[in-house]
Amino acid sequence: MSGLVLHTDRTEGTRTAAAALADVLRAGDLLVLDGPLGAGKTTFTQGLGQGLQVRGPVASPTFVIARVHPSLRGGPALVHVDAYRLGESADIDDLDLEAELDEAVTVVEWGRDRVEHLADSTLLIQLDRPAQVEDPDEPEEPRTLRLTPRGPRWDETATEQLTTALRAAGHTVELTAAPAPEEEN
Ligand SMILES: Nc1ncnc2c1ncn2[C@@H]1O[C@H](COP(=O)(O)OP(=O)(O)O)[C@@H](O)[C@H]1O
Ligand SMILES: [Mg+2]
Repeated sequence: MSGLVLHTDRTEGTRTAAAALADVLRAGDLLVLDGPLGAGKTTFTQGLGQGLQVRGPVASPTFVIARVHPSLRGGPALVHVDAYRLGESADIDDLDLEAELDEAVTVVEWGRDRVEHLADSTLLIQLDRPAQVEDPDEPEEPRTLRLTPRGPRWDETATEQLTTALRAAGHTVELTAAPAPEEEN
């Protein structure tokens, strides 16, 4: 199954990419966000919230582990989870996300290798930022977004819809034949 890669160099670009994806998403979808602190996982989730037209604000869940944003247009809610403090998958299971999963679009920051067992299909989104020191005068920075669809939900047609939606929103999308490589630790 092919993956998608795109680049943005503005906060707004990460948001518009996520908002474009929202058009393709439906209840039951599980999105796994990966990438270092400050990469843009929450920013991406804000774009999803805009695209899905859910009640905001979407913010970093500091003490709250999961937040439900109901739809303002009768569509699926957005369930926003921050799994950073959740070590064991047992903790994840305690959240009982499955109860919500079918009716919502669920997005899990730091979810990689923690939540995949909850659904038979996932969309992994890896956000990368350059390893440069942040310049406070120049807060906008390039980001790379790698989308790796997995499972029956993300067949060729559905993956193509993702590409089309991103391109329609003005993003340049590269397709990769193989899944994104594992990160080295
Ligand atoms: N191209 C970009 N995409 C996303 N965020 C960006 C970009 N350039 C700068 N930023 C800034 O980087 C920060 C990302 O923070 P956040 O989304 O909370 O990251 P995370 O949730 O991954 O820790 C925000 O302050 C955002 O404005
Ligand atoms: Mg965050």
